[in-house]
Amino acid sequence: MKLGITVLPGDGIGPEVTAEAIRVLETVASRFGHELEAQEHPFGTRAYAQFGKAFPDDTRKACLGSQAVFLGAVGDPAYDKFPPSERPEAALLELRRQLGNFANLRPIVSQFNPEGSPFRDEALKGLDVLIVRELIGGLYFGEPRGREGDGAGARAWNTLVYTAEEVERIARVAFEAAKGRKGHVTSVDKSNVLETSKMWREVVESLGKEYSDVRLDHMYVDRAAMELISNPRQFDVMVTGNLFGDILSDEASVLAGSLGLLPSASIGGKVGIYEPVHGSAPDIAGKGIANPIGAIGSMAMMLRYSFDLTEEAAAIDGAIEVAMEKGFLTADLVGADAAKSTKEVGGFIADAVSGN
Ligand code: IPM
Ligand code: MN
Repeated sequence: MKLGITVLPGDGIGPEVTAEAIRVLETVASRFGHELEAQEHPFGTRAYAQFGKAFPDDTRKACLGSQAVFLGAVGDPAYDKFPPSERPEAALLELRRQLGNFANLRPIVSQFNPEGSPFRDEALKGLDVLIVRELIGGLYFGEPRGREGDGAGARAWNTLVYTAEEVERIARVAFEAAKGRKGHVTSVDKSNVLETSKMWREVVESLGKEYSDVRLDHMYVDRAAMELISNPRQFDVMVTGNLFGDILSDEASVLAGSLGLLPSASIGGKVGIYEPVHGSAPDIAGKGIANPIGAIGSMAMMLRYSFDLTEEAAAIDGAIEVAMEKGFLTADLVGADAAKSTKEVGGFIADAVSGN
């Protein structure tokens, strides 16, 4: 099969982890006899510096014309003083929206509980949660938004809006996912306060009637934040809006051991986007110590969701598991003495994938 993908390494540690993910993908392609055509394009702050745009038109065309997009990370503290709409993050939101990827899948599994973890091993045993986050609506995109004035006279506003259709399509993704898992969906909202959430709950409840084999419950987001750390194994699939999903997935990453481990898939449109959940981590960029596993796991998700190559995806997931079992890990998970570099972990996983 031909795998035509657009690669956006982006900012900070993005290029480092992307290089390892591509290396693993190349190994999979050669082992399983696929032809890989991976084209890199500028995106994020370096694109901004070069073209005056974080999301240049040529990059946009390349993304729209490919079978899948792989993204490293975007963001740079130098842009902190810019208004939100001119920051590199806005390019990422625009990319997601233009490709129509309304569903962001963020699986959280516990394979390794690092020293210094706030959780007991027993509390995490067998933990496997899938966060299904709505990605192109809600508070991130709602209009009107804006700001006026400065200092004590300043006023700023955003809008939390969802249509029933938007809620139904993301809920459907969650129900379908649950069918292939433990058959349990928890919908997370704030329906004791927000009109949007009240409608969200009604729509999810009514769609749930189509899925008699799936158990549905609802939880307020504040409670969900607490339950996620006090009793995380009660969850199977969690479905929620854009902002709540953003927050809960970072929180849940602590259960996995490190934010650097989490992969994600953004699907629902014609061209899927695959990116690690972590950000650009400017504090460790260029040091060769970033965890590449979130990026490599995102490649597995790409093979599964965009190309339906389940055996290939399983080969990557299996190799990641071996690396974790053998303690072949970066500094976010083990002490500096035992820690391996980004390249060493990537190389180990690539070797494991190739069967060496
Ligand atoms: C994420 C990130 C992004 C988001 C930022 C970088 C815009 O935090 O993918 O979770 O908020 O969606
Ligand atoms: Mn986030």
